[in-house]
Amino acid sequence: MMGAATLRVRVARKSVEAEGICSFELVSADGAPLPSFAAGSHVDVQVPGGPTRQYSLCNDPAETHRYLIAVLRDAASRGGSSAMHDRVNVGDLLTISAPKNHFALAHDAASHLLLAGGIGVTPLLCMAERLAIVGAPFEMHYCTRSPARTAFAARIGASGYAPQVHFHHDDGPAPQRLDIAALLAAPPAGRHLYVCGPQGFMDAVLASARAQGWPEDRIHYEFFGATPAPAGGDGAFEVMLASSGRVIPVAADRSIVQALADAGVTVATSCEQGVCGTCLTRVIDGLPEHRDLYLTPEEQAANDQMLPCCSRARSPRLVLDL
Ligand code: FES
Repeated sequence: MMGAATLRVRVARKSVEAEGICSFELVSADGAPLPSFAAGSHVDVQVPGGPTRQYSLCNDPAETHRYLIAVLRDAASRGGSSAMHDRVNVGDLLTISAPKNHFALAHDAASHLLLAGGIGVTPLLCMAERLAIVGAPFEMHYCTRSPARTAFAARIGASGYAPQVHFHHDDGPAPQRLDIAALLAAPPAGRHLYVCGPQGFMDAVLASARAQGWPEDRIHYEFFGATPAPAGGDGAFEVMLASSGRVIPVAADRSIVQALADAGVTVATSCEQGVCGTCLTRVIDGLPEHRDLYLTPEEQAANDQMLPCCSRARSPRLVLDL
């Protein structure tokens, strides 16, 4: 499902950026300037004949004539990335959302450490270029399987900030591999960490950062290719709407958002995977079972808000601020 503000765009260019990675340059279908965005933003793309997928914007945020996204062909995907690769071509029209940003730069940071895993480079590339333009201190580490699978290497290599970017390849000699624990040891005051990449990479970086005392408010992350637990297949429970006292049963094979929709109650959603935060809802009573990738561990532990597109209940009833 796509939010209210949608845009029609045309594919102006499709380029192979690396093995398995295509970029798409999207321009406004009617020639009007596109809404501006900040580094770290993504758009929801309605994949033709398929699901809605989030792709980070990786062009210069100062540009209003185009958006650039890059898509990794993921064999395990549910059709989004392969449809983009196989069925979307130059000249095609796409429906996308206006840019949204859940992964913003902390402009008061003393310095920035950007860690990219694979296609997770896209938002971080945009951040690196922004930081270079404003002259903010930063360092970026970009981990990929091999040079052939490293998108935007030439763009980075030709940039003025190239010396601040370190490449690490899984198939390269051991000394060039990223030592995450060493890199994250003793976080300097005021330094912020930004991470984007596949689940294993994110888990390793976030676990290491937390173990080494990085404060949660200096860790920023965005999952790529998130695979939260499926919403169904569990016990049934009920949701009470705080505004009306109405009680709506949630069957074992329905998500809260689906059960509410069945009862005529709409909750705004976007990703429906617990990633984007669009459906964030206050919990007034009851105990949620958090399955999202959006809230921090502290926020989840507080149990006063939840993502009802994927999270469920540990208590027989949840009272939600709806
Ligand atoms: Fe994206 Fe629920 S719709 S987190």
